Amino acid sequence: MAKMEVKTSLLDNMIGVGDMVLLEPLNEETFINNLKKRFDHNEIYTYIGSVVISVNPYRSLPIYSPEKVEDYRNRNFYELSPHIFALSDEAYRSLRDQDKDQCILITGESGAGKTEASKLVMSYVAAVCGKGAEVNQVKEQLLQSNPVLEAFGNAKTVRNDNSSRFGKYMDIEFDFKGDPLGGVISNYLLEKSRVVKQPRGERNFHVFYQLLSGASEELLNKLKLERDFSRYNYLSLDSARVNGIDDAANFRTVRNAMQIVGFMDHEAESVLEVVAAVLKLGNIEFKPESRVNGLDESKIKDKNELKEICELTGIDQSVLERAFSFRTVEAKQEKVSTTLNVAQAYYARDALAKNLYSRLFSWLVNRINESIKAQTKVRKKVMGVLDIYGFEIFEDNSFEQFIINYCNEKLQQIFIELTLKEEQEEYIREDIEWTHIEYFNNAIICDLIENNTNGILAMLDEECLRPGTVTDETFLEKLNQVCATHQHFESRMSKCSRFLNDTSLPHSCFRIQHYAGKVLYQVEGFVDKNNDLLYRDLSQAMWKASHTLIKSLFPEGNPAKINLKRPPTAGSQFKASVATLMKNLQTKNPNYIRCIKPNDKKAAHIFNESLVCHQIRYLGLLENVRVRRAGYAFRQAYEPCLERYKMLCKQTWPHWKGPARSGVEVLFNELEIPVDEYSFGRSKIFIRNPRTLFKLEDLRKQRLEDLATLIQKIYRGWKCRTHFLLMKKSQIVIAAWYRRFAQQKKYQQTKSSALVIQSYIRGWKARKILRELKHQKRCKEAATTIAAYWHGTQVRREYRKFFRANAGKKIYEFTLQRIIQKYFLEMKNKMPSLSPIDKNWPSRPYLFLDSTHKELKRIFHLWRCKKYRDQFTDQQKLIYEEKLEASELFKDKKALYPSSVGQPFQGAYLEINKNPKYKKLKDAIEEKIIIAEVVNKINRANGKSTSRIFLLTNNNLLLADQKSGQIKSEVPLVDVTKVSMSSQNDGFFAVHLKEGSEAASKGDFLFSSDHLIEMATKLYRTTLSQTKQKLNIEISDEFLVQFRQDKVCVKFIQGNQKNGSVPTCKRKNNRLLEVAVP
Ligand SMILES: Nc1ncnc2c1ncn2[C@@H]1O[C@H](COP(=O)(O)OP(=O)(O)OP(=O)(O)O)[C@@H](O)[C@H]1O
Ligand SMILES: [Mg+2]
Repeated sequence: MAKMEVKTSLLDNMIGVGDMVLLEPLNEETFINNLKKRFDHNEIYTYIGSVVISVNPYRSLPIYSPEKVEDYRNRNFYELSPHIFALSDEAYRSLRDQDKDQCILITGESGAGKTEASKLVMSYVAAVCGKGAEVNQVKEQLLQSNPVLEAFGNAKTVRNDNSSRFGKYMDIEFDFKGDPLGGVISNYLLEKSRVVKQPRGERNFHVFYQLLSGASEELLNKLKLERDFSRYNYLSLDSARVNGIDDAANFRTVRNAMQIVGFMDHEAESVLEVVAAVLKLGNIEFKPESRVNGLDESKIKDKNELKEICELTGIDQSVLERAFSFRTVEAKQEKVSTTLNVAQAYYARDALAKNLYSRLFSWLVNRINESIKAQTKVRKKVMGVLDIYGFEIFEDNSFEQFIINYCNEKLQQIFIELTLKEEQEEYIREDIEWTHIEYFNNAIICDLIENNTNGILAMLDEECLRPGTVTDETFLEKLNQVCATHQHFESRMSKCSRFLNDTSLPHSCFRIQHYAGKVLYQVEGFVDKNNDLLYRDLSQAMWKASHTLIKSLFPEGNPAKINLKRPPTAGSQFKASVATLMKNLQTKNPNYIRCIKPNDKKAAHIFNESLVCHQIRYLGLLENVRVRRAGYAFRQAYEPCLERYKMLCKQTWPHWKGPARSGVEVLFNELEIPVDEYSFGRSKIFIRNPRTLFKLEDLRKQRLEDLATLIQKIYRGWKCRTHFLLMKKSQIVIAAWYRRFAQQKKYQQTKSSALVIQSYIRGWKARKILRELKHQKRCKEAATTIAAYWHGTQVRREYRKFFRANAGKKIYEFTLQRIIQKYFLEMKNKMPSLSPIDKNWPSRPYLFLDSTHKELKRIFHLWRCKKYRDQFTDQQKLIYEEKLEASELFKDKKALYPSSVGQPFQGAYLEINKNPKYKKLKDAIEEKIIIAEVVNKINRANGKSTSRIFLLTNNNLLLADQKSGQIKSEVPLVDVTKVSMSSQNDGFFAVHLKEGSEAASKGDFLFSSDHLIEMATKLYRTTLSQTKQKLNIEISDEFLVQFRQDKVCVKFIQGNQKNGSVPTCKRKNNRLLEVAVP
């Protein structure tokens, strides 16, 4: 739903009148009363047309909250009650939307709230303009420039605890969207005399007190300062502490603000060092010292302070000391140095302090400008905010007040010009006839001061530049001559005798009748202050400082840039800058805020009527209202006017179709408003008298009440009717619902009864069918059962004989087969390796297969042995056959046998063929040699052994001498009958020969050999193959041997250890030969 727009107006809930133009009757009394009434109701703002009057409330009001900002944002000027935000919004919007540069001119006397107003304007604009990181930084820097400038440029005065002692004009620059880009601040004439001297009840600039209260001990030590205010001559003590001002906290705020604005740490420190130097300058004191020529020369009393200043600023102490004692005047080529007396020395000191401080202030402004300046070169829209010192009338008014008041005079001038011009222009624009109104134009006062030939400032300059003795008195005399006839100038010595009787006018004074009142100026100091003289020696000393900031503040001290021309005077400088300012303001659309101070006590709730009256008079506010009302008191665009009053006429209410202007015409005709009371402009209706407007307002109020009643009546009727219709509709709905419900219930009952009956019948029918079906089924089942039984009996009868006899066996066989199959299949996977010496064999799975298992193992073994044998060559086969033979002959019979298994049966151990020693032997033997080996032949007589070569050929057995190779005996194999040997582990064996043969003449042979088994086997085999007879091999531990005629028993005795492991043989007697076997 679209938000309902509530159109409000300034005229709603007004206290007094919000716009003075509507005041009826208009006179000073009603004006003040209206202001007072509004002030008492916390309405501090009142309009005169588009000018805002602001009365200082001297307390914080809850009217500047963010919600208020939102309220005033994008609203028309006259839509809400008067507020500074409305003016700010109007200015900002016409800047943004209509591309008109704006200036906001804030005037009023000291303490009237100008600075506060300027800050409010700035903060409002900051709140409503664009957002974003960059924009926010610009805003923040613009806003934070205020605390810095206030610390250095504001001071407590009797009129204001935070009085601006300088004029400030700030241009805020925006881009085409209305986002802030940056700003430029111009400052006008700082009241620097305050640095060295303050009037009673006033303070020096805030920064001195802030520094001493807020700086850390460390910082103070660094700046060589002490916290005690009373230590410093330049600080007035009677009002060093001000209620409601926390200097220490403000110091932190200022440091923080400096950081935000973009001061580097070293810059901020340099600034504080200059402040410290200024403070310490005040403590330098001088004493007179008589010189030979009778004149007094000043000397510094205590050099300690000077030393510290020099340390702080990096100036050579002797240079500064000399600058306080001498003054060098340069003219053309001449250079004259004169000594200073004590008074001159003090003057020089103060001039230095003032210059140092005021130049520091200008430097600060420039430094801030550098930070806040817009970064782009695009075209900018500008909003200027002018917050200049207010009109001042003190007991003693001096050059500063003169300058300040001149500036205010100029502002009033521009106010008059622009307001009247604007008013006039509006009438022309709107095509309305305009009657001239008389008002006081202060141009004449401006002229008195600024006229180039005989204005006061020109006169002062002339006097300052004139050769010869120049004093303030000579200046006054001159004024008396030149301005005597001026209406606004008065002095006792004036040639014009008009005022001679005026005893209130003291000597050495002149009085100017400003637009805001008469001000008496003390002429003393005018010449000096205008000259603003700083001895060149001092500026040169400053330039020599190693402190970069101080050095940069005194460029004229650079000897290379020496300029003999006088610098422009303070007055002419100010005049020029004011002229520039005025020119600048004239190019912009002005918005006025006129500040009024309600009392002199800086107190809330007090409204001093006479004080206010005075301000109203000199601000010319009443005239302002009159001018505004000269033609027409009130004007309003046609649309809002029609919108506001259309309910007063039947044709325009509730809707007017057609242009707003004709609507207003119809409305005014209908209301019979006298024709001379209003006039139609191009876009606005102009109402001559406020009376008419109020009449319209009264009518509207009345009509609104009627309308409210009407609306109430219609609303109530509508509400009752709607209620009734709703009730009726509800009743029908309820009845319908109830009927439906009843019908539904009845139907449900019938339906359920029908269902019950239906279900009973269906049940009964179904049961009947079921019974029949069951009967049929049972019949069928019975028949099947009988048939099955009969068939069964038949089949059983037929198969009984096969089935019962064989089933068990078959199952058994089948099971067995399965088990065996499984056994073999498993066996296949578990087969051991093919190596014949592998002893592994899988474990037996079933007990009943035990024998099979063993048999399989055996078969497998045999098979793998066969496999192994199949790989043999013929040679290997022979060897194995021989080995097999040996095993058959000796295994388990002779203990020597196992040791022979591993021996390869080489046969020909002696290589007779190759050895030349045995050539003869070899030649003697023609057959193949089967054994050629050395054996021990046991002597038959004594049992001792001799080495003999034992040779076996296919047919013979030969013995030869080992050394000579000569054959000793030769036995044909057919003559060998038997071989005997023990069952023990020895190599003795006997070869029995056939009785009666030729070889047997000497008897049987008894040998011992390491290769007994081989020899016996080979002998056996050879014999068998040659003679086809098996050689008898006797294995016995006792056997008989035939030695020649004797039969000798060879007996083997075990356990003889005498000769270690070697068996020994001994002939015991004729019948016995004993062999000791280990
Ligand atoms: N709108 C306001 N709301 C609350 N207090 C205000 C307002 N305006 C001014 N004041 C109070 O009045 C005091 C003086 O105001 P301000 O400093 O703005 O005066 P000024 O016109 O700038 O004076 P000067 O010409 O001496 O600088 C402020 O310190 C503040 O206490
Ligand atoms: Mg101020």
